[in-house]
Amino acid sequence: MISNLLVYGHYLKLSVKGGVRVDLFRKKSIDTLIAGSQQGKTLKKELSAFDLAFLGIGAIIGTGIFVLTGVGALDAGPALVISFIIAGLACAFAAFNYAEFASLVPVSGSVYTYSYATLGEFIAWVIGWDLMLEYILAVSAVSVGWSGYFTNFLAGIGIEIPASLTAAPGSDPGAIINLPSLVIVMIIAFLLSIGVKESKWVNNLMVALKLIVVALVIVAGVFYVKPDNWTPFMPMGWDGVGLAAATVFFAYLGFDAVSTAAEETRNPSRDLPKGILWSLGICTLLYILVSGIVTGIVPWQKFADHQDDPVAFALQFAGQDWVAGIISVGAAIGMMTVMLVMLYGQTRVGFAMSRDGLLPKWISKVHDKYRTPFASTWFYGTVCGLLGAFVPLDDLVKLVNMGTLAAFVLISVAVWVLRVKQPDLPRKFRCPWVPVLPILAIIFCGYLMFQLPGSTWLRFGIWLLIGIIFYFVYSRKNSKLNSASEAEKAS
Ligand code: ALA
Repeated sequence: MISNLLVYGHYLKLSVKGGVRVDLFRKKSIDTLIAGSQQGKTLKKELSAFDLAFLGIGAIIGTGIFVLTGVGALDAGPALVISFIIAGLACAFAAFNYAEFASLVPVSGSVYTYSYATLGEFIAWVIGWDLMLEYILAVSAVSVGWSGYFTNFLAGIGIEIPASLTAAPGSDPGAIINLPSLVIVMIIAFLLSIGVKESKWVNNLMVALKLIVVALVIVAGVFYVKPDNWTPFMPMGWDGVGLAAATVFFAYLGFDAVSTAAEETRNPSRDLPKGILWSLGICTLLYILVSGIVTGIVPWQKFADHQDDPVAFALQFAGQDWVAGIISVGAAIGMMTVMLVMLYGQTRVGFAMSRDGLLPKWISKVHDKYRTPFASTWFYGTVCGLLGAFVPLDDLVKLVNMGTLAAFVLISVAVWVLRVKQPDLPRKFRCPWVPVLPILAIIFCGYLMFQLPGSTWLRFGIWLLIGIIFYFVYSRKNSKLNSASEAEKAS
């Protein structure tokens, strides 16, 4: 799609009132972007590569491994391990492209910002709009997973929340609202709104705890694996494996959120690619081990009755109740870090888009005392909380995956196109084997997209349509690039 748009780019000049011609492919210069990020009240530059890897792991390990493993096992059987490998490969291929893109422009806003400087305003808008879908719905989806573990944990210590208050309408009979889900997102919004420092500290602590919990699943679980449970290995064939891969893909999301922290990183061009690749690599290894062990302990059919907390259930099944208890608490804590990073990512993408004039100004307003985008953090937090409270997990996960896969395909196409069209752009990190890796990313991500149902494609199409209308009605007119001095002629 991008290459077609680029081919026609020269011909797509739009007339606006007063006879001014606006180019859909006008770009913001990299120098202007860096200068813009240094004007006015700036975000603090305090993150290292280690912090970024922690930020990445914090965003990655969560609902995917702790909750969707159950759904995935029902689709794929023990071959769930293969599903995790396929989804992991799709992410790994995309991650190299992502890292190259991330190292092009060291300012806030993730791939949105980088595409603004390299591919032009319209594509940047589409990518930014798509990222908003990913981050907002991911926060909501994880809050639903958190609610499941939290509610089960409370039940374990004798505190019952009425079932009607712990699920979205439509997901369980009689369900009214998922209240824990709403409450946890509000707590996360509060933490983020009062500043990076506090939330980074909280994040690091929670990530360490989460890694310990995952290690515990592996170490305590491995002794209870019965290889018989792995046969037949692929009861639903490749169709089941593909379906499960398109679902558990969610488990890997988050590594891209690292790139949204560019502006708060000490040495972005060196540390961002490192942070992305390290966090993804560590998580992939852990997922392969956990999914192999869990399906080795429990015959996969049994997950049908334990979809809220399949990993804790596996340890219970092994008779390790105390380990299962620790896992429930650790999983709930782990999911909080995912929400923290995802909501952080969303506020920073919104921040960058607003600073460029494409979204309303108040979204990038920095709080005097906390130096955070305070109002928008609460705004996005409320939206995420309400979606988690009223939309079933399955619908949220599928749409997040669709939006993210589409963004990965666009980015991989873009990396390839830019290598051809702008070979001299400074690239601090170069994706190896171009165009082979971009093509592999496009094939793997495209394959996963086609595993998702028609209803998800329809919802995604509607979201994009709303975004395009918003662009033409609001963003194009309010873009900072309307001042001629800033606009660069499209190539
Ligand atoms: N990867 C994140 C999770 O699984 C979104 O919760």
